[in-house]
Amino acid sequence: MNNSENLTGTASGRRSFLKKGIAAAGAATVGAGILTNGKLAFAEEEKKGHLDAGDAAILRFLAAAEILETDLWQQYNELAGIPDPEVPGGSGNPDYTAAVKFLDGDMDQYIHDNTEDELTHEQFINAYLASKGADTVNLDHFRVLPSSLATGAQQIGRLTNLMQLAVDTTWYTRYRSRTKNPDFGDTFPNAIPTLAAGEHPAIPRSDADLSDPNHLQAIANTAGFHFATIEQGGTSLYAQLAQRVTGVEVLRILLSIGGTEVMHFQTWQDKAGNFKPLTDGSLVFPDLNAPPLGGEDFQTNLIMPEPTIFLSRHFPPCSIIRPTETKGAAMGALKFLSDSHLFLGQSKAFFAYLTDLAEDADDAKR
Ligand SMILES: [Fe+2]
Ligand SMILES: [Fe+2]
Repeated sequence: MNNSENLTGTASGRRSFLKKGIAAAGAATVGAGILTNGKLAFAEEEKKGHLDAGDAAILRFLAAAEILETDLWQQYNELAGIPDPEVPGGSGNPDYTAAVKFLDGDMDQYIHDNTEDELTHEQFINAYLASKGADTVNLDHFRVLPSSLATGAQQIGRLTNLMQLAVDTTWYTRYRSRTKNPDFGDTFPNAIPTLAAGEHPAIPRSDADLSDPNHLQAIANTAGFHFATIEQGGTSLYAQLAQRVTGVEVLRILLSIGGTEVMHFQTWQDKAGNFKPLTDGSLVFPDLNAPPLGGEDFQTNLIMPEPTIFLSRHFPPCSIIRPTETKGAAMGALKFLSDSHLFLGQSKAFFAYLTDLAEDADDAKR
């Protein structure tokens, strides 16, 4: 099933009701957090501040995106990261951790730190919204998807599904192209075409996925590419939405958080190139450095963005984030994630709520 089908069709009345109900619950939660920190006076003061309605909508969509990011990174951290007081939950899976570390011996630390970053993004944006008296975002109601049964994973409800992914790897060739830009309508081939089709686990579904080392490495390779796929999306999303922010302080938030998404992507696209070439059933990770691949479009160490066309073909090529076209960016991001099967098994109410947040963000104008 293609999840994007769930993004079409609206029931405005129900969605508005749902949105208000969930937002109210979220605001109460965040408000309570501020109270327990003894910052009531500050919060009350901030609530007098004005937040542009479009800015609030953009921040709410980003809060939702960060909550979803936290949920997926949390699952990676439980199995291949470093569960600790900064990022609690789970107890690690040594076999999967070792397979992921084929890409870099520090992968567990990077996974831990990326997870903590997303958690702080989510908490900060919601706290900022609450400080302005704006509705916040809470997706707890939708934590219904199953956890991995593999050793090390918590058994709790999840927002995202990492066990049946179709991982888009067009960012790999997009950032290596010297002549094309998605904002000009250009399309790009997948670096790992078989990963973009079908349903592939990026984490072991159970301990049965651990016994064949080749299969386990395929799962770890999948995770390695998925990390970069997620973070390149965040990289573009912040740059896209920043163009429609009205308040300078909100622009500062988007530029400052967006910059860390760029750092995430850059780290992961470097690590992804260290994957182990292999074949696991229909899933093929080819050697990207050898013919018929290799060269400027596939060489694994070309991890800096190649200069390409930007704004107009009349200008000289420029090394840039891509895409950055702002129109429909939030819905585009939601569709991109849905098409990857990340939300496989989620309810119609989940898609309706996320669609509502995305539409509101895309309606924002500076
Ligand atoms: Fe983030
Ligand atoms: Fe991120």
